[in-house]
This record gives sequence, C-alpha cells and structure tokens, in this order.
Amino acid sequence: MKQIIIQGGNKLSGTIKISGAKNSAVALIPASILADDVVKIDNVPNISDIEALNEILEFLGAKVSIEDGLMTINPKSIKNKDIPKEVSSKLRASYYFMSALLGKYKQVQMYFPGGCKIGARPIDQTLKGFKALGATVEEKDNKFKITAEELVGGHVYLDMPSVGATINTMLVAVKAKGTTIIENAAKEPEIVNVATFLNNMGAKITGAGTSEIRIKGVESLKGCFTEVIPDRIETGTYIIAGALLGENLKIDNIIPEHVESLTLKLKEMGVDIKIGNNYAIVNSCKDLKHVDLRTLGYPGFPTDLQQPVTTLLTQCRGLSILEETIYENRFQNVPYLNKMGANIKIVGKKIRIKGPTKLKGKKVVATDLRAGACLVLAGLAAQGKTTITNIEHVLRGYENIIEKLTNVGAKISLEEI
Ligand code: EPU
Repeated sequence: MKQIIIQGGNKLSGTIKISGAKNSAVALIPASILADDVVKIDNVPNISDIEALNEILEFLGAKVSIEDGLMTINPKSIKNKDIPKEVSSKLRASYYFMSALLGKYKQVQMYFPGGCKIGARPIDQTLKGFKALGATVEEKDNKFKITAEELVGGHVYLDMPSVGATINTMLVAVKAKGTTIIENAAKEPEIVNVATFLNNMGAKITGAGTSEIRIKGVESLKGCFTEVIPDRIETGTYIIAGALLGENLKIDNIIPEHVESLTLKLKEMGVDIKIGNNYAIVNSCKDLKHVDLRTLGYPGFPTDLQQPVTTLLTQCRGLSILEETIYENRFQNVPYLNKMGANIKIVGKKIRIKGPTKLKGKKVVATDLRAGACLVLAGLAAQGKTTITNIEHVLRGYENIIEKLTNVGAKISLEEI
C-alpha cells in the first residue's frame, strides 16, 4: 500500500511535460495483436495500467520490450488463450483484448473487465457491436464466450457514444468481410489515435472523430509505427493545478484543441491562461467567478476532469453547479473535499459548490483514479499536511506525478505503508 503526503500552499512554477494518453495507449496495445508483424508504439506512459496490459500480452505469447516510452510488440508467437480473471479484472481496457482476439481468431473467452468503481459500467454496446458482425455471445458467471464462423461487416447504432464500444467494434471490424458502419460513435481523440494506428497497419477506416465511422475489412494487417497522443486529462489536471497555484506554470507538449472545453471554462472563471501551439501557461488568480458545468462526450466537458475541476470550483466566488451525466457514482471525492473545508452538496446527479472556502490538510482516501487527482490538487492548495491513501488508483493513470509536481515546486512525496 502506498500513500501520498503533501505539504500544501506552495506556488508552482516551471514546466510540466505531458505524457502519452493512458486511454489511447491502453487501446493501442491490445490493437497491436491484430498485426502480423512487429509494431512499435512511441510515447507510451509509464503507468501501472500499461504494466497490466503487458502482462496480458506476455501471457498470450507476444514478445514485448519497452525503452524510454518506445514499446516494441512482436505478435507473431501469440496464441489465443483464456486471459485469467485476476489480470483482466485489473482494468477496464482489458476488454480491448476481447475484440482484438475475436477479430484475429474469430473466437475468444474472457471475463468481465475491471476498472474504477464509479457506477455500473455495462458492456452491452460492445456485445451489440460483436453481434452485428455475426458473433454469438454466451455468458456464464461473468465469463464471456464469443465465437463467429465468419465476421461480416454490419451496421451498428450505439445507444450512447461509448468510447469502449466504438473502439471494440473497430477492432473486430478491421478484418471482417465487407464494410461496417458505426453510428452514434464516440468522437474522443483517443478513437482517432486508434483508427490512425490501424490504418497505418493497412486497415481502411474513415470518419474516426465523427459520429459515423466506416470500416472496410481487409485480409491482413502489417507491422507499423505509431505515437500515443498527449494525455488530455493529465493536461487538464495540471492546468487546473496552475489555476490554483501557478506562477507562470507551463504545461508543455499538449494539443490545446483537446482541452478547449476546460480552457474556455477557465477563461469564464477569470483564470489567467495563455495558450500556445503546444503549451499553456497558467497563473493563479484571486477572485475567480463561479461557473456551471455539465459532463458530456467529446468535445463536451470530459467526465474524467469533473472531479479535478471540483477542487478549483471550491475556490470560486458564488454557487457553481456541476452535473455528471456519464457515471452514476463519480462524487466519491466530495465527502473528502468537505472534510478539507469545502462546502459541497450532492443533489442527485448534480453537486452544488459554494465558494470560496479555505482548504485544510487532512487524511483522505483516493476512492478512484480521478477522485485521487482531485484530492492531490486539493492537497496542493490546502494549508498544512494532506495524506492521501489508496494512491495506487492515481499511479494507474498519472506518469511520474510525484517528480512532475516536485520539479515545479510542490512539496509532495510517496510513502510505502
Ligand atoms: N455504457 C453502457 N454500455 C456500454 C458502454 C458504456 O451503458 O456498453 C455507459 C457506461 O456505463 C457509462 C457511459 O456509457 O455510463 C460511458 O462509457 P464509455 O464506454 O464511453 O466509457 P469507457 O470506454 O468504459 C472510457 C475511459 C474512461 C472515461 C470514459 C468516458 C478508458 C479505458 N476509459 O471508458 O476513463 O471516463 O471513456 O470518456 O478509455 C478514467 O480515465 O478515469 C476513465 C474512467
């Protein structure tokens, strides 16, 4: 078990370089097994979710090496084996292997995936995609057996623009016979990253990044090179840190367009933020204005920044109302923020944040990844010492968070308990 200790109240200045996106990398790695030859993926973040996926790759028989963020995967010796529950339950993204193995071998057996406990996270839309391409799904005790005599392109309408279902359907469709159309597809940048990767392998995907994706199946996919895009949620988290404590804090190696829903809201609040080609410079300001926010699929405000931005809203003057529309249980950070001095009420799917309130260092728990990020921000802004336990959640998604924050002036350390 690990915990983070933060001595709060220190200004942050200097540069934080953003790493490769977790939610892209965790899809690119399983997608790599569809290739018949060696695949190289650069800018892979060093986080525990990637380690879990590497474990699965090696279990399947792939040869994997990683050096300075460049991952080399040789899928030639892969065998279609049942991935043990202990490994697949470590993360949500393990189910990208479900679709990649199905697409490659036309059959797969795997357990329901893991992931942060932030509400029900069914996989019905993914299964709908598989079925639309001709697969049969059997389920017993949370284990899925999915088989297809032949995978044939189909027309899928997703009931909600699910990131996972969009990627899973693409992974199954790239080698299917004929054309697949995904309607109401998710438009997240990570989906474009995965589609580009598959196209580099020789797939024929158009429309990624829009709500209609077309995939013309091909016989085989070759080895290729790709790069993970910068992590827009990590970017947003550190931009928020800058809004709280920045003194010319530079967030570098970003794609500004990917975080526009956040940066435009910050400007509404009155945050001093300058956006360059691939960076943002943020200064903390006194007397920020309250805003209302609603989480939505891309290009709307990302649910993954909802908890981090709540910390900033506690410092804004007036009543901010924040609505979470994607997950049912993504307010587990709220009792801890209140313990630290915030004034937040949960009302159904919304929270009402009255500010500004002074935050004080306390003992708190990271209940999930982004709740942990929210509490790290609160600890940085608070007076005194904050101790955050269950920090493993945060290490799943933020590369070198201790080093990155220490380098810009934070007093933060990681301890084994
Ligand atoms: N949903 C269904 N049925 C499905 C799929 C989704 O009802 O078959 C519902 C979910 O229950 C949820 C909503 O649709 O309420 C959105 O789910 P989506 O499938 O879009 O999310 P995901 O693919 O499971 C990815 C990220 C999440 C991020 C969401 C939304 C990965 C590994 N995870 O999850 O990231 O919140 O998209 O953008 O890519 C995180 O990084 O902290 C995180 C949770």
